[in-house]
Amino acid sequence: MKLSRTYLFPSPVWRASVPESELYNPVLRARILAERDADPRGVIRSNDSASGAWHSDKGMLDWPEARFLRDAILQLADAVFRNSGFKSGTDAVLSSMWSNVLPRGGYNKSHIHPNSHISGVYYVCAGSSLTMEDPRAGRGSFQALLDDSVDLPPHSLSYVSLKSTEGDIILFPGWLSHRVETHSDDSLRISVSFNINQRITCDD
Ligand SMILES: [Fe+2]
Repeated sequence: MKLSRTYLFPSPVWRASVPESELYNPVLRARILAERDADPRGVIRSNDSASGAWHSDKGMLDWPEARFLRDAILQLADAVFRNSGFKSGTDAVLSSMWSNVLPRGGYNKSHIHPNSHISGVYYVCAGSSLTMEDPRAGRGSFQALLDDSVDLPPHSLSYVSLKSTEGDIILFPGWLSHRVETHSDDSLRISVSFNINQRITCDD
């Protein structure tokens, strides 16, 4: 007998590299660190503040230092919308954007981005991995023993860790659970997270 395999309901992750990020990142990095100095407590969300993880407020949308990033995100969001079959005549709105700073030992707990169609992260300074978690409800209730000595097929994975370099951008559905692994070197891991929503426009 011949056995075939078909994947149903796959979870997309899109990746790109922002052009000329090496020119823009030092200025953005300086602004983020200045904001952290001005408000060392920041806000508490998925960041584990006891580990030193810092999370800014959501005022970044107006920063001139982040204009290049807003432009890049919206350009990529259009491609993601087309890639996902989103209804024509709708467009992407960058609804929120915030920065994250992790020192050695810092991490972000597992979370989703509620009320966001597409979410993502941009790397100003790379570091520990972004781990995407299996969203398939109920799978963990009866897990099979797996052979760790072989490359497992995608449907047998319970998480996937993504490494990035400076200037990389990752986009994913807001419902896809993820976490940031513990940062393990002395240089700061600095990233910008964001949410994108689908806007329905009315002509008249
Ligand atoms: Fe997140």
